[in-house]
Amino acid sequence: METKLRPVDTTSIWRKKPLAAYEADMKKSELKRVLTRWSLTSLGIGAVIGGGVFVLTGIAANEWAGPALALAFVMAGVACAFAALCYAEFASILPVEGSAYAYSYGTVGEIFAWLIGWNLILEYMMGATTVAVSWSGYFEKLLHLLNIHLPIWLMNDPVTAQEKAEKLRAAGENIPDFAFAVNLPAFLIVWCVTYVLVKGIKEAASTNNAIVVLKVATVIFVIIAGSFYVDVANWTPFIPEPVLDKGGQQHYGFNGIVTAAGIVFFAYIGFDAVSTQAGEAINPKKDVPFAIIASLIICTVLYILVSLVLTGMVKYDALDLKAPVAQAFADQGLTWAVYLITIAAIAGLTSVMLVMMLGQTRIFLGMAKDGLLPKNLFASIHPTFKTPWKSTILVGAIVSTVAALTPIDKVSELCSSGTLLAFAMICGAVWLLRVREPNLERPYRTPALPVVATLGILANLYLMYNLRTDTKISFVIWCTLGVIVYFLYSRRHSHLNNKNTED
Ligand code: ALA
Repeated sequence: METKLRPVDTTSIWRKKPLAAYEADMKKSELKRVLTRWSLTSLGIGAVIGGGVFVLTGIAANEWAGPALALAFVMAGVACAFAALCYAEFASILPVEGSAYAYSYGTVGEIFAWLIGWNLILEYMMGATTVAVSWSGYFEKLLHLLNIHLPIWLMNDPVTAQEKAEKLRAAGENIPDFAFAVNLPAFLIVWCVTYVLVKGIKEAASTNNAIVVLKVATVIFVIIAGSFYVDVANWTPFIPEPVLDKGGQQHYGFNGIVTAAGIVFFAYIGFDAVSTQAGEAINPKKDVPFAIIASLIICTVLYILVSLVLTGMVKYDALDLKAPVAQAFADQGLTWAVYLITIAAIAGLTSVMLVMMLGQTRIFLGMAKDGLLPKNLFASIHPTFKTPWKSTILVGAIVSTVAALTPIDKVSELCSSGTLLAFAMICGAVWLLRVREPNLERPYRTPALPVVATLGILANLYLMYNLRTDTKISFVIWCTLGVIVYFLYSRRHSHLNNKNTED
């Protein structure tokens, strides 16, 4: 790297990690460099296509956007694209594990980096949790297809189980009382994924590659096979007339599309997971930017086509809320296709969990190496498997427990809020770095950066602003907690306490 960053006061919360330290970290890294540009792209797609397209398309079209679901996907995709372009430049400058956290530590400063890392926990851990529960829903659907019916208290968290039992009792079914409930499938699948991750990145990458092929093939199948069942009359009106609900919130019309965009934003989360793998990429400076942008483009095109096919096959207000894709084919009497889609969804959701949990442990690793988190827990690499095994098991324990016991609706929005803020911060940070350090070597440069960064900040904050109020309150509490942890632990243990920031 040619240019040195300006030194700052080493006691400041804005102190920066010297670029030389990144180079030293990269040389010392015990992780194996095994990932090619297409493995990285596959990891990105693996993290992206999941609950968003297989589950949330139903609610987004049925209740908010109508056939204009495709426009909601375009809107959310554009917000992500700005962030992706900025991510790509950052990743090309500092191709290290730790993602946005690491990039901002070297450029903007410690407190900013800490807050990004703290919010990425919401993205990755809460994302994996949400997906584990969606996985359990599809798994239950598969069991029903096979005529296997397990008790409600074994398939749902306590709150959801009671709600479901009450509904069924009200409908006249005989559901015995239960004192305890646990989402056992969600709990178990998280531990299976944890096992694969502890065993090693290469194994994880090849498992993921196989699943990604199945998942993308199924999505393409949905698009092609579904297109034969499209009735263009279902697309009219494309943007249904606005309707106000009792709470005064507008469904359909332009505002409905914006709300739907906030919902389907979840479907894009994960493309940035590629940037957490830079430490294991063979040629990170070129391949990480390529993979970030390629996975986002591929997924956006697939999402738009799936939206058009779905809303063409089924009138928007008749779309199923839980498994809309499978149900659209069931409505046409294509039972074999329902099996295929359900199995692919189960496999696809597994790969999302895999990449999200993998990403989380790599971010922890980056933070621990800098002293901001305890090293013996988060940076301990297994001698044989060469993976951060302790932190992988810890992440598995947290994700499995939360998924087993917590209702999921709010968790997914909390996941989105953390991600949106991290995206907005990244756009700002890349721009700031361009202004302050114009001569840094940049293998990839974001085109028209001031415009892209400004639009990225505005678009992501706008989607965040449109989230529900209680999500925003929980988010503020999370950030406050992060600041407390920073001042009580991380600031005191930061390696920068012992170093001058000058290279
Ligand atoms: N984008 C991921 C999904 O839709 C989180 O499941």
